[in-house]
Amino acid sequence: MRQIDCKFHRDLKPTRVWGYGSTSPGPTFDVRSGQGILVEWANELPTKHIFPIDHTIHGAESNLPEVRTVVHLHGAKAPANSDGYPDNWYQPGKSVVYYYPNRQDAAMLWYHDHALGINRLNVFAGLFGVYFVRDEVEDALNLPKEKYEIPLVLYDRIFDTDGQLNYPVSGNPKSPWTPEVFGDGLVINGKIFPYLEVEPRKYRLRILNGANARFFHLSLSNGQAFQEIGTDQGLLPAPLELKRLTLAPAERADMIVDFSGSAGEQIILKNDSLSAMQFRVSRTSVHDPSAVPSVLRPVPKIPESAAVMTRTLSLIEVQDPAQRPVRMLLNNAHWDMPVTENPVLDSVEIWSLVNTTDDSHPIHLHLVRFQILDRQSFDAPTYLRSGKFVGLGPLILPDTSEAGWKDTVRAEPNMITRIIIRFEGYTGRYVWHCHILEHEDNEMMRPYEVISAR
Ligand code: C2O
Ligand code: CU
Ligand code: CU
Repeated sequence: MRQIDCKFHRDLKPTRVWGYGSTSPGPTFDVRSGQGILVEWANELPTKHIFPIDHTIHGAESNLPEVRTVVHLHGAKAPANSDGYPDNWYQPGKSVVYYYPNRQDAAMLWYHDHALGINRLNVFAGLFGVYFVRDEVEDALNLPKEKYEIPLVLYDRIFDTDGQLNYPVSGNPKSPWTPEVFGDGLVINGKIFPYLEVEPRKYRLRILNGANARFFHLSLSNGQAFQEIGTDQGLLPAPLELKRLTLAPAERADMIVDFSGSAGEQIILKNDSLSAMQFRVSRTSVHDPSAVPSVLRPVPKIPESAAVMTRTLSLIEVQDPAQRPVRMLLNNAHWDMPVTENPVLDSVEIWSLVNTTDDSHPIHLHLVRFQILDRQSFDAPTYLRSGKFVGLGPLILPDTSEAGWKDTVRAEPNMITRIIIRFEGYTGRYVWHCHILEHEDNEMMRPYEVISAR
């Protein structure tokens, strides 16, 4: 991890960012399922942070070093001591070696900082990158590959007139935390409004929402559909035609776009009505040997009857008298309170996420993959007053695009969202949290512990 200068746009001065190696996003890993790797993550950052720290936030007290980092590989089934537990941060000049066994299906993972209380600032500074796991099932599909497979990391940033990153503050110098950060500069792979020269053929776009808080709603300017073939934790059972794709922070989508009908055209990838990037399709037709098979990878449903435990977990926003959010909580508990979620290794549980707030929260569990069961509206005031759950309206099945294995789920406002999880892999201490990083840093994160069966 180093402080570097990056050009986000031809017309902007170089911007000071933090990256892994000499880039942000950092280098892209490409590993085979079942082949473990060791990574030495070395903190070579300066000792002064580039953004204001809120010392009233737990884990960011003023007696602690300003610059602290710890890397988490999001979506990895990794042993607890290599998972980047938020308390396991270290200072500039130090490094750790982490072991990633990669005993999991082909998927797009991503690595990013996870230091307690300043994670939002470290990621905003640029500490994230992409990590692909490959396997034979994926190989056998003959999907577009190599230069026809493009990782796209989308995020938003605020730039000042000098071209430098600006992380907004609350206006209270003692507690600069703000509940969410949205930038007006939409960035893809480190560039503002980039373009890509493509051939008139199929491409595989591996899209990650790497933003702190923004949800993306993506579409193509010519009205063309994407074929979605995978989500967070790998391939869907079958491709899905989609004209508009919603991605919450940390969610991934594996998309096929066919440019063969657009030779000579320019197509814009749009976020709502704004331009995100441009595809310039060349004129000369090409031979495209790749395919999008109608069957991809079976995703066997975990039956609800397999669950040995159902946990009801609430999402809470704590407000000040002026109804401004001051902190966000999971199940009314703070980060440093004792562990309350302790699933048994290899057991199945249902977690019911009861969202009492007016925001959608992308909830992520480390270590595991899960399936979304359903969502239902409920009477939030009654629930907050009495703890009684009164469902309103029908059970809503997940979107077809949420049908595969997930590691991040949108807990929609005033809804209960149920997920089913098998706690496979390792025992030990992990975390679950909201992936809106401003929420995560301000208490919307809890430890959980996988314990061994007696
Ligand atoms: Cu993207 Cu705790 O992770
Ligand atoms: Cu994670
Ligand atoms: Cu949240």
